[in-house]
Amino acid sequence: MCGIVGYIGNTDARQIITCGLLALEYRGYDSAGIAYCINDSLNPVKIVKTTGKVMNLVNKLEQYNEDSVPLSGIGHTRWATHGGVTEVNSHPHSYGRVTLIHNGIIENYRELSDILAKDGKFPVSQTDTEIAAMVIDSYYEGDAFEAIKKACEVLEGSYSFCIIFSDQPDKIYATRKNSPLIAANCSTGSFVASDIVAIIDYTKDYFILPENHIAKLTSDSITVYDYFGNIFTPETIHVNWDIAAAKKGGYEHFMLKEIHEQPDAVINTISPRIVKGLPDFSSDNVPDDLFKNLNRIVITACGTAMHAGMLGKVMIEKYARIPVSVDIASEFRYSDPIIDEHTLVIAISQSGETADTLAAVKLAKSLGARTLAIVNVKGSIIALESDYVLYTHAGPEISVASTKAYTVQLSLMYLIAYKIAMIKNLLSDNDARCRTECLINSVDDMKATINMDQELFYITKKLKKADNIFYLGRGLDYAIACEGSLKLKEISYIHSEAYAAGELKHGTISLITDNVPVIAFATQDNVYSKVISNVVEVRSRGAYVILVTKSGEHVDTSLCDHHITLPKMDEEFTPFCNAVILQYLAYFTAVRRDLNVDQPRNLAKSVTVE
Ligand code: M6R
Repeated sequence: MCGIVGYIGNTDARQIITCGLLALEYRGYDSAGIAYCINDSLNPVKIVKTTGKVMNLVNKLEQYNEDSVPLSGIGHTRWATHGGVTEVNSHPHSYGRVTLIHNGIIENYRELSDILAKDGKFPVSQTDTEIAAMVIDSYYEGDAFEAIKKACEVLEGSYSFCIIFSDQPDKIYATRKNSPLIAANCSTGSFVASDIVAIIDYTKDYFILPENHIAKLTSDSITVYDYFGNIFTPETIHVNWDIAAAKKGGYEHFMLKEIHEQPDAVINTISPRIVKGLPDFSSDNVPDDLFKNLNRIVITACGTAMHAGMLGKVMIEKYARIPVSVDIASEFRYSDPIIDEHTLVIAISQSGETADTLAAVKLAKSLGARTLAIVNVKGSIIALESDYVLYTHAGPEISVASTKAYTVQLSLMYLIAYKIAMIKNLLSDNDARCRTECLINSVDDMKATINMDQELFYITKKLKKADNIFYLGRGLDYAIACEGSLKLKEISYIHSEAYAAGELKHGTISLITDNVPVIAFATQDNVYSKVISNVVEVRSRGAYVILVTKSGEHVDTSLCDHHITLPKMDEEFTPFCNAVILQYLAYFTAVRRDLNVDQPRNLAKSVTVE
């Protein structure tokens, strides 16, 4: 949450920073601001900020013509936590000689504020960030390193900071704890940012600033120091996707583009893990031993990633016969979980920085469990904290609504289920090879479903007017229903609920009246007739039914208003097609309602706060 960019080099800093902020807007978009250095010995740091989107900042900046092109600065796009959405609460914040931007939360800001007040120092905003600026300034006696280090010793919580000291306008300092920050130096200058997408126009090589370290950026170099003042050389990471991957590429929205990217994303994710037709994680340095002697698997995640975990539970229990629980990370972290060294905790996260999922991993490790992360962003905190990591190769996912990150997570759930089953001798090599081949083939079915866009667009004509929509399914289809409901709520702002189809009659069916849309997934053979019975129940109460089945089912057309038929396929792999259907239904409904699909209200893509 919140996107930050710092730049110092030989090019227009205002342009580089605002372009970077536009790329980071998925992280928060309620206000934006920039501080840049100008040739004014009295006030060398100029701050411009505004509420609303980054474009508001771009427009506002046009009013400020400088005598010479500013070559350094820091910029921020905000998702408000402490203090409302006002200009004064927007970043950068400044106190004394310190100007900074911040991503994270300073948890002890009230205590620190009380201490500062005793010295007659009072903030002007309601933010925790301004207190951090005041604390750093209180320690500053000309040595930036010492001031930042001392401040970090008293600041509790999470932070990535980019800091300018007004008496050192030729430098930018950065540090972080429990919040992401990458840095890069190239011929254009030195950069720090929340995410490589902000600076991919300039370089594909970057490094992750380690915690408890301070980076000093000048126009031609970045030096990283540990807290003892020793120089540290971080490992360089190279991104293997192109800048086009982070642009809309002709699509109206990132979400639509990312829906279309799913077949490639799944292939890119599973191919390196299939050796001689069998699941194999050796190139990820994930040993088979990780999956041996397990009594229990806990999958922990949030939102869409958690829904991928729900599907993983069904698959792992089916093939590997190990009890799996799926725990919402924000609950798990404050529970008293019964886990030990015979428990494998799988944390799933697109961003790799979700605060609750990270805390869940830390708790699991502290209790002796083995931890495996399934993460999309290379080098992200959850990946670094976990014992082992399987990276999904979805490429950058920009739309706040997760699509391709979900289906690649699903694909790894399948491979993990088959792998553990093989290790336990519950699945022969031949059967595993056959299942793995079906998984690969399901990508073609996904492509066919992506081509059903016209049909799905048509169906949403009715949905866009609904006040409540219900999603039903059983087994794998229930996990899909949960994701369908979340996606719809998130971007169309229509209330929706997902129900295990058999559970509806235990209360919720009272909400089904004339024309209430019910989207029912009936793609699992063993419960097909049961779901159809549930559809009959809602239909007879007036529901407007959209029914999804596999090809080949003889569906009584009076049962539903729309019948969506999946390609002919093995029931185990229908989630890949059902995912596309639920994504399209949400997407087209939001488009028809003229909403901001990629940046739904109140949300941010990376949820780095509790
Ligand atoms: O980055 P993560 O996968 O950890 O994010 C978890 C959720 O915040 C995320 O999946 C969220 O639910 C999506 N915006 C849903 O589309």
